[in-house]
Amino acid sequence: MNSKHFDIDKIISNFQSLQEKDITYPEISPMEEIHKTMQKRAGQLILECGVRKGFSSSIFAYNSELSGSHCYSVDIEDCSDVVESSAWSFFQSDDTEVDKILGQFPNIKKRGIDILLIDSLHTSSHVKKVLYNWFPYLNKDSIIFVDDTDSFNYRKGQKKDSILNEINWDEINEFVINFSRSNRSQISLVQFHKKSGLSKLYKSSNRGELPSKLYNYNRFVGVVNFIKILRRIKFW
Ligand SMILES: C[S@@+](CC[C@H](N)C(=O)[O-])C[C@H]1O[C@@H](n2cnc3c(N)ncnc32)[C@H](O)[C@@H]1O
Repeated sequence: MNSKHFDIDKIISNFQSLQEKDITYPEISPMEEIHKTMQKRAGQLILECGVRKGFSSSIFAYNSELSGSHCYSVDIEDCSDVVESSAWSFFQSDDTEVDKILGQFPNIKKRGIDILLIDSLHTSSHVKKVLYNWFPYLNKDSIIFVDDTDSFNYRKGQKKDSILNEINWDEINEFVINFSRSNRSQISLVQFHKKSGLSKLYKSSNRGELPSKLYNYNRFVGVVNFIKILRRIKFW
């Protein structure tokens, strides 16, 4: 395979050396986790939402060539030249347009999705739409990655300080947690907090199963604050 913007052999070799260095392996970043997951799974059908310069596409294509998998990638912009690989296909489209994408990639409907990466528009409403639209096509034992679920890099005084991104990242994270809690019978959530954060959702239900509506588990902020004041009075 060929990656236009990334030295993929060097990146993979760095991932491998990190894994070998320390059995506790605490430095895991989102792309390393995706790489590690790909290493454990063969014959996968991957749907990638959001390509840009093709970092994640390169990781998917590299591993897909080795494991008989195939990565179908979608972006609203033309990213068709970022990767060259027999295991990678690109389609320019809004990632919520399921029928249009299935028309281009009928294999997705035929085989179902084993790995879904959501890394396109970073608002909770868009992530929700993508997840609910594609959920019926996810196979049993599939994995959903939602990138960018930790706002720390954008918080006050941090390197990428941005209040808008902080709000969006926090809302995406809140949605992902709420989604997994509302679907506890079919979803298990694991989160990584390195870099901009990654959520990994394991889906145990069969293909075609629909997700539940989101349930609001939050208490009124006023009630919580009142209880906190009572707690303070009691102890101090
Ligand atoms: C963060 S970048 C993707 C990064 C890529 N996954 C990687 O790891 O290198 C987000 C991409 O999502 C695309 N995008 C934004 N809105 C979209 C939409 N509605 N449908 C599909 N792609 C979208 C943007 O054009 C951009 O290229």
